[in-house]
Amino acid sequence: MGVAWASLEPRCGSHVKMLRESPCIVVVGAGTGVGKTHVSCALVAELRRRGVAIEARKPVESGYADVESDAERLAMAAGHATFRPRYAFVEAASPHRAARRAGVRIELTELLAWCPRSGGWLIETAGGLLSPLSESLSNLDFTAALEPAAVVLVVANRLGALHDVRACQLALATRELTAQVVLSEPANGDEATLTNSEELAQLGWAATSIEFPRAFLDDSKTKAAASGLADALSQGG
Ligand SMILES: Nc1ncnc2c1ncn2[C@@H]1O[C@H](COP(=O)(O)OP(=O)(O)O)[C@@H](O)[C@H]1O
Ligand SMILES: [Mg+2]
Repeated sequence: MGVAWASLEPRCGSHVKMLRESPCIVVVGAGTGVGKTHVSCALVAELRRRGVAIEARKPVESGYADVESDAERLAMAAGHATFRPRYAFVEAASPHRAARRAGVRIELTELLAWCPRSGGWLIETAGGLLSPLSESLSNLDFTAALEPAAVVLVVANRLGALHDVRACQLALATRELTAQVVLSEPANGDEATLTNSEELAQLGWAATSIEFPRAFLDDSKTKAAASGLADALSQGG
């Protein structure tokens, strides 16, 4: 267990309610395909390099396939066997819709019972922060119920990212949660990709957003970003 991870006091209502013994992290996104799994895998791999054991799981996954699922990618990065999602749907639709069409209802109690509640863990949510898991349950509800030490908010680093960050921050604030902002470069980056991080700081919305460049997981640039993210979480950045 790294000293940096062990030395922090909890601060209620903050993404830095950190990490006296083990990191307990929920990764949320401004949408689907924004880089949640990419960033999660990079972070988990970085924590492993630091000697921090962490279980990485995807409790709800639509568009699920046995091979190269998010659950599998997370497990490979974390170095443990794959946990099949508690709710896995082949159909690539909003979780609540995929569940309904499969004749299933996603229940918060089931999700909480399935997720690890001790040791270090990282949970990747399905879709966007406000994506419905059922008619009465969203990823925001699920995130709050997990009482994580840290929330990581992944946003595609392109034009529109400022809105996406602010909208998610305001939604999280309704549950007294804040998030470490991560900007992940999409395949179709644009001019705003170069300036979003600076603008977030100037607007006072995110003093330190972490930028993940468009690069493979084992690329040194990705590893440097993951290291920056781990530092930001452990320092309460
Ligand atoms: N910064 C990045 N560099 C390289 N590839 C990325 C990056 N962010 C996302 N990707 C890739 O884009 C696709 C969608 O990202 P993913 O992490 O699966 O999104 P999400 O989990 O939010 O749905 C995946 O193939 C992923 O590997
Ligand atoms: Mg994913």
